[in-house]
Amino acid sequence: MHDVDYELLARQVEQLFATEDNLIAGLANFSALFFHELADINWLGFYLIDNEQLVLGPFQGKLACTRIAIGQGVCGTSAAKNISVRVDDVHQFAGHIACDSASNSELVIPFRRHGQVIGVLDIDSPSFSRFTEIDQDGLEKCLNKLENCLFA
Ligand code: SME
Repeated sequence: MHDVDYELLARQVEQLFATEDNLIAGLANFSALFFHELADINWLGFYLIDNEQLVLGPFQGKLACTRIAIGQGVCGTSAAKNISVRVDDVHQFAGHIACDSASNSELVIPFRRHGQVIGVLDIDSPSFSRFTEIDQDGLEKCLNKLENCLFA
């Protein structure tokens, strides 16, 4: 259990990104903010849909695979179904794509523009079952604030 004040983080997102509507700048700083605020994670970043594939976007962590088919892996499943996907043990997830062998659990949240999926936020942890419903709910709200700033 990690104590994170997601309400406070959501307010920070609103303030930090209120005056920035550049997509890459926003995603880069969002990645940096949350990579350093969340404990026990080894990768956090974005994949963006490009030519019907997910292509690596701004992130923090080790080198990652650059292209994922929609519907493939945890990221591709989240994008295809337009739902958050929380995986307690990635080794049990059929089709999981291992970018960093240190990753054991994962949370993927759709990144939307005016309700339409345009990518995903992917967060990996070296611990099993790292992400709770509280993390999912808090991070969905924070990402939603970012979407509202970038796509007002
Ligand atoms: N594990 C992901 C791939 C992306 S990396 O973890 C950064 C997946 O299965 O979609």
